[in-house]
Amino acid sequence: MNALWVAPVMPDYESARATFSWRRERSRLAGLPDGGINIGYEAVDRHLREGHGDRVALRCVGRDGSVAAMTFARLAAGSSRFAHVLETLGLERGERVFTLLGRRFELYSTVLGTLRAGRVLCPLFTAFGPEPVALRMELGNARALVTTRELYERKVAPVRPRLPHLRHVLLLDPGADPPPGTLSFPALTDAAPDEYTVQPTDPAEPALLHFTSGTTGTPKGAVHVHEAVLAHHVTAAYALDLHEGDVFWCTADPGWVTGMSYGIIAPLTHGVTTVVDEGDFAPARWYGILADQHVTVWYTAPTALRMLMRAAPRDGSAPTARHDLSSLRFVASVGEPLNPEAVHWGREALGLPVHDTWWQTETGAIMIANFAADPVRPGSMGRPLPGVEAAVLACGEDGRAAVTSGHVQILQEPGAQGELALRSGWPSMFRGYLHEPQRYEACFADGWYLTGDLVSRDADGWYWFVGRADDVIKSAGHLIGPFEVESALMEHPAVAEAGVIGRPDELAGTIVKAFVLPRPEYPPDPQLRRDVLAFARRRLGPAVAPREIEFVEDLPHTRSGKVMRRLLRARELGLPEGDVSTLEAPEPAGTARPSGKEP
Ligand code: WT7
Repeated sequence: MNALWVAPVMPDYESARATFSWRRERSRLAGLPDGGINIGYEAVDRHLREGHGDRVALRCVGRDGSVAAMTFARLAAGSSRFAHVLETLGLERGERVFTLLGRRFELYSTVLGTLRAGRVLCPLFTAFGPEPVALRMELGNARALVTTRELYERKVAPVRPRLPHLRHVLLLDPGADPPPGTLSFPALTDAAPDEYTVQPTDPAEPALLHFTSGTTGTPKGAVHVHEAVLAHHVTAAYALDLHEGDVFWCTADPGWVTGMSYGIIAPLTHGVTTVVDEGDFAPARWYGILADQHVTVWYTAPTALRMLMRAAPRDGSAPTARHDLSSLRFVASVGEPLNPEAVHWGREALGLPVHDTWWQTETGAIMIANFAADPVRPGSMGRPLPGVEAAVLACGEDGRAAVTSGHVQILQEPGAQGELALRSGWPSMFRGYLHEPQRYEACFADGWYLTGDLVSRDADGWYWFVGRADDVIKSAGHLIGPFEVESALMEHPAVAEAGVIGRPDELAGTIVKAFVLPRPEYPPDPQLRRDVLAFARRRLGPAVAPREIEFVEDLPHTRSGKVMRRLLRARELGLPEGDVSTLEAPEPAGTARPSGKEP
């Protein structure tokens, strides 16, 4: 069998959908000798087995511009060493290994070694502060952590007493005087054998844990299983047009699901070369990578595209005038709404339209996309992939899909707005929220998975994003739970209460804004604002902390005592305040009086 599956040409969207079956697609995977499925095996072992160990798996561009390559054979050896280390350290199957790492080779050997050994991997975002890091490691019962000395000292050491389950901390760069309670990643891996046989793995065995944010409560740990790799592999062909010989660059951070599904797993299963950029965003650097690495398929995000648009030279010349982007064949975007302007800009500046794709942490892989074979509809998320059934569901008063006696109502008319739902049953569907079966159950009704996104569908079946049905904030492509931010703010002695919303921003799409009710003894002056902002940033990290704080004299509450973020948002945006019947008290004076509530 050919190891490197070439995506079928899709002349016709409808017939591709009509003939698709996940069961048949399973033959695209190599599969374990005993019929099982292991993501790590699909990503590295299969290429060795099929004689392609000398192909370049990763090409790493350092901060200084230096380039280093790693073949599939070396990646297999590195991940084998890490798999042995986990066994030597006594980690049991199913126990969790966390990473707090940027993009670098060791991240890949850690992820793949963990998966090949049947342990579960959970990536964390390096721009998280100590609080989000500790909370996620507590919830996920982290047994081992791989990170750098600098990140450990800043973000983990201060919260380590909260993490009694964390037995092993492996530092990539421990130095001559390693911090107490840490181990040396290089010393352990250097001493380990470089061959490892992937253990039998049930397709439904947990492989990955990805934390995502909800409206209330703790972050949700979405559990994904090994057979998800089938969806990673197939969707990368259909939605990202990945072919043999491609050079693929996914700019997402490895701390989030995109960085895992498409930054690591999908391209490796296809045997293509993945560009690993150790550096930070900078327009010239990014164009340089696209040109110098001959990137053919590029998967990025609207915020990055907007920043590139803004950085356009004043003389109006296209980046193609200064950088040879002739290798680039396909550009796709994900994570937040892609403005039509960005699609048009792509055509002019890169010579290619930008293909929007839609999915979530919970779906594990792309579900809706502007296909390679289809013309792009600027502003639309695209159409459901083969194997994916989507629908728009009628919503109730709470703005979520209405479920009446166990049934939902599918809206058929074009343009009707409702909650986006997906028919359960694709391989990369999450299998649970860690420790929260009820929260998981609440995501499903009548055989549909309810996404929490509001959309409409046009007469031709293209989907259009309208907004979130909940209070979760999407900033620069990252989901932020308002409750997590409010909780951290309220740890500050001056903060009596806080309500957190997303405020539209030209670059980031949305930024986090906090309304803060100060305690009476603290005057709400600029000094206090700076102090609270700095406090939040220290605890939460730059990715999660509010960018803006407004002191208020009162916060609107529901009768059950929750801060009404919907109302805060409506006021901020100057929108009608809508239904305030659950409001606790009219505030400020002049707004509608809630029915039945005595002052
Ligand atoms: C939420 C999921 C997609 C993987 C990375 C983020 C929003 C995602 C789009 C898009 C408009 C989008 C939705 C979704 N979103 N893609 N193409 N257009 N909004 O995964 O962190 O779980 O976020 O991101 O609101 O529900 P996530």
